[in-house]
Amino acid sequence: MNPEMNLSAGNGRQTVIPLTFAQSYHYPVCFTRDLFHINNQTLMEALGAETRSGAPKTLVFMDDGLIDPSSGLLSRITLWFEHYKDIFHLVRDPEIFPGGEGVKNSWDHVHRATRIMNDSGMDRHGLILALGGGALLDMAGFASAIFHRGIRLIRIPTTTLAQNDAGIGVKNGINQYGRKNCIGTFYLPAAVINDFDFLKTLSFDHFIGGVAEAFKIALIRDSDFFSFLENHSALLKQRDQHAIEETIERCAALHLEHIAGSGDAFETGSSRPLDYGHWSAHKIEMLSGFSLGHGQAVSIGIALDSVYAWHRALISRTELDRILTALIRCGLPVWSPYLERRDGAGRLEIENGLEEFRQHLGGRLTFTMPAGIGQACELHEMDFDRVREGISFLKNLGSVSGASDREAVKPV
Ligand SMILES: NC(=O)c1ccc[n+]([C@@H]2O[C@H](COP(=O)([O-])OP(=O)(O)OC[C@H]3O[C@@H](n4cnc5c(N)ncnc54)[C@H](O)[C@@H]3O)[C@@H](O)[C@H]2O)c1
Ligand SMILES: [Zn+2]
Repeated sequence: MNPEMNLSAGNGRQTVIPLTFAQSYHYPVCFTRDLFHINNQTLMEALGAETRSGAPKTLVFMDDGLIDPSSGLLSRITLWFEHYKDIFHLVRDPEIFPGGEGVKNSWDHVHRATRIMNDSGMDRHGLILALGGGALLDMAGFASAIFHRGIRLIRIPTTTLAQNDAGIGVKNGINQYGRKNCIGTFYLPAAVINDFDFLKTLSFDHFIGGVAEAFKIALIRDSDFFSFLENHSALLKQRDQHAIEETIERCAALHLEHIAGSGDAFETGSSRPLDYGHWSAHKIEMLSGFSLGHGQAVSIGIALDSVYAWHRALISRTELDRILTALIRCGLPVWSPYLERRDGAGRLEIENGLEEFRQHLGGRLTFTMPAGIGQACELHEMDFDRVREGISFLKNLGSVSGASDREAVKPV
């Protein structure tokens, strides 16, 4: 094969060597309980043959939300690694990082994580185990992606949202310049291990937040899953174990199907189906100074986009009511005063959010919307007068229903 092509280029000669190659990617997403029980072999099974070539240097980065002295988690982790020291060489005690958005709001923790990797003599065969919520995983994933141009990463998500969305995919990042996830990479983990036992210690908001992402994907991909969420909304609010586990597994499977099957895992096109409801969510999450969790912000963003979809006759009024009722019954919000926050020039802040979304995407502005429940369509402009009407609609609804689950949403 002679790939060289000679092209005429004005007065001179230009040579182009076209380069095309394909590499297949794979990683398992496992579900277990009590991961650090001495008999639990999930970590070895997840890495398969990769664990048979000598004990890799291993570091554990943990979210401080997991550090409850009564749980004994730290000592169980240490004992587990001691037991399996021929398979994993734990180079130092687990390193604790603050959980929550603060860990990805600056470079500080990325510097600390890469410094620890350096001081521990980590090489490209080393392993980072990151345990925590989506924020910790985003920061640790980014640090792992850039150290030695990529060091193997095992994500162990510990919130609902991290187990069914943030922790299972191919993205990481930190917030900079007032923008969510402004700096980050696409970087695949070697494995993801979801341990349902971690959900027991979550606050209600962090428990239910991930259910908003399940609604997101159900609404644009899977009407049966939406019906499941609708029918189990009261149980989900009560933290029913079977309901949440099925929610997480189905939601994770749909996300993974999208990543593997969309043909655009690294998001080079303009379309971002998984960002349904997110253009406003990211903005109100930032405006709240992250007192509003990502999942809660996404729930509000879904509500706003669903009203818009109804205004554009993409879904019926009955479908809109079903969506809003199900969110509210789960204990998820559909309204926030941040939707009405204005900047110094009197412009709605979320209108600025729309502009930021446009800048982040580049290319042709594209919004994914439901076209009936379970199907997606794309819009390429947003009529902001309609968005304003949607904000009033949700505000009115909030005052009618008190955003509670007392009763189904009534037409207003
Ligand atoms: N990379 C992606 O593809 C992707 C996708 C969606 C969301 N995200 C990001 O994920 C982040 C949100 O993640 P999140 O919802 O998991 O919240 P989070 O990471 O902010 O964690 C929420 C809180 O729960 C605590 N916590 C974590 N696990 C716990 C446990 N088992 N018990 C008790 N407390 C625990 C944390 O310390 C923190 O205080 C956002 O930054 C969002 O941008 C990333
Ligand atoms: Zn999200």
